[in-house]
Amino acid sequence: MTSAALKAARGLIRDFGEVEQLQVSRKGPADFVSTADHKAERTLRAELSKARPSFGFLMEESGASVGSDEKQRWIVDPLDGTTNFLHGIPHFCISIALEREGEIVAGVVYDPTRDEMFWAEKGVGAYMNDRRMRVSGRTKLDDAVIATGIPFRERGHHESYLQTLGAVMATCAGVRRMGSAALDLAYVAAGRYDGFWEFGLSPWDIAAGILLVREAGGQVSDPGGGNDPLRTGEIVASNVQLHPALAALVRKGARRAA
Ligand code: IPD
Ligand code: CA
Repeated sequence: MTSAALKAARGLIRDFGEVEQLQVSRKGPADFVSTADHKAERTLRAELSKARPSFGFLMEESGASVGSDEKQRWIVDPLDGTTNFLHGIPHFCISIALEREGEIVAGVVYDPTRDEMFWAEKGVGAYMNDRRMRVSGRTKLDDAVIATGIPFRERGHHESYLQTLGAVMATCAGVRRMGSAALDLAYVAAGRYDGFWEFGLSPWDIAAGILLVREAGGQVSDPGGGNDPLRTGEIVASNVQLHPALAALVRKGARRAA
């Protein structure tokens, strides 16, 4: 998984250099970025298929395909943080998870611009490069920096999202919206953020990140406390101490915000 990510990342970094040049053109880099995204997905599919020919796929661009081993599949986002990439902002990643019989057993989130490889295996722990990761130790929301994803245009229910944001703003030490849900979760696992919430996410955005946080000792649920944010796309992640209070704040908007 890590070598597939490294290979696809080489192409993304080359293309990111081009994107920075294209900002000034009137048409902008949109088509170019879409091509870069698809190219990264093809590289990942080829590399992962070479390593495990029987596994299926769920990929952001090409959707689901069942392998001869129906119990195992890769869940892949070849470029999470597409809007950042498109605007020349160096904050994006590749996310790869391995799902076995409906359970995520391995996850990789790779940030090519910082060369940070976040990875976890079920029961083995979570790591950034070769260093073990732990979620933060903060126990009070007053001190907590919380990341989120803000819905835009037709996505999500803006008014109820704003209610939730208002509640979190009024309680916490700071709110961040960096633009990559997979990296948001990796940063919770690394103890950089104390928590994260978002509504309306897809499995490829969060499959690897959920395992990173859990293996780093954190808690991930949907705002109602349900154990399956991968299916609902509504997610709250933090350390175990902060989780009930953060989930309670987020619940205010959750029902209508997705
Ligand atoms: C998006 C990013 C973003 C989140 C959006 C996602 P994409 O994925 O993870 O942070 O707020 O909900 O769709 O489109 O960059 O792969
Ligand atoms: Ca994504």
